[in-house]
Amino acid sequence: MDPNHQPVDVAVIGVGRMGKHHARIYSQLTQVNLVAVVDPDADRAGAVADEFDCACYAELEELLEAHPGLRAASIAVPTALHADAAEPLLERKIACLIEKPLAPTVAEAKRLADRADRCGALLQVGHTERFNPAVRAVATMGIQPRFIEVDRVSPMTFRSLDIGVVMDMMIHDLDIVLMLAASPIERVDAAGVAVLGEHEDVANARLVFASGCVANLTASRLAMKTHRKMRIVSEDAYVSLDYAKRDGVVIRKSDNAAALEGLRRQLAAGSDLANLDYSELVHIDQLTMESPGDDPDQDPLTAQLTSFIHAIRSGDRPTVDAVAGYAAVDAAERVIDAVARHRWEGLSSARV
Ligand SMILES: NC(=O)c1ccc[n+]([C@@H]2O[C@H](COP(=O)([O-])OP(=O)(O)OC[C@H]3O[C@@H](n4cnc5c(N)ncnc54)[C@H](O)[C@@H]3O)[C@@H](O)[C@H]2O)c1
Repeated sequence: MDPNHQPVDVAVIGVGRMGKHHARIYSQLTQVNLVAVVDPDADRAGAVADEFDCACYAELEELLEAHPGLRAASIAVPTALHADAAEPLLERKIACLIEKPLAPTVAEAKRLADRADRCGALLQVGHTERFNPAVRAVATMGIQPRFIEVDRVSPMTFRSLDIGVVMDMMIHDLDIVLMLAASPIERVDAAGVAVLGEHEDVANARLVFASGCVANLTASRLAMKTHRKMRIVSEDAYVSLDYAKRDGVVIRKSDNAAALEGLRRQLAAGSDLANLDYSELVHIDQLTMESPGDDPDQDPLTAQLTSFIHAIRSGDRPTVDAVAGYAAVDAAERVIDAVARHRWEGLSSARV
């Protein structure tokens, strides 16, 4: 039987906070057979296996021995262990969805990308925000940004403190910014502050692309509340998107040509427009998905896993491939280096 018509046998490696969600979603997808989970924490692995009706193992080797027909796996172990978990699978041409960030360093990300390429194995990276309906809507607009502003701040969760906020949180936005800018990074300036450990907990970066596009990103895991927003300005459009609400608005110059021309004429004639409300004069559209068949209500993780399975069955390139995963780690490492290089001239230790 053609393997593309059979359910895809899949396993989840590491069933902590993220991996458990992968197991739950795979257990619900049609054309997918969740065969097992792997985690050295036996209680955790057993509980997830019981809940989603699959086998569980403490070691990857046991999984590979028991399920020679395994076609795919999600890797949701701590980032430092991504390569150790993924490489034996890639060697067997088992498709891997590796949680973000692809690896903790550029060197390791490159090694993983090269390994997948050499083995001819499919590698997708878990940049879930790519599947946020608001981001998917912007991606279909073909926008050429002049500048991008991003804020991703949230309260301290005391998780992922082995990495800084750039590799942990800002990397989500770096991936989206790289996709939208579609141009090489020319310059990075950044500053950050470490409060709870040795890694930065709050950071701001300014990226300048070869195209001239400028992106300004702020990430904090010490905020009082959660706020995740991106604003994009292009020659024709202003887009404001809210990652958390999964929606946004767009104001196009071209859709408001008459209103803008009227305002220009009044300004040229010296009229006092101080009492006008600009936001009431222009037409504001909601961000909508433009590709038919896309389900805007599907949650991003389900959309991501569905697209992974689709890539396996169709042979299509995954939406976030190893090249994109590598590029995001490379950008994050450049921001971290820029934070470390930043000189606090004139700042004495007595001042904050
Ligand atoms: N896409 C997102 O939005 C998002 C959000 C949070 C975390 N993540 C990523 O997901 C990954 C996991 O993060 P988490 O918060 O779920 O961590 P976690 O600590 O909650 O879970 C990790 C699990 O891996 C298990 N594990 C450790 N070594 C293992 C091994 N060799 N084989 C199998 N299992 C092993 C641990 O026992 C634990 O259960 C990280 O790379 C993280 O960056 C992604």
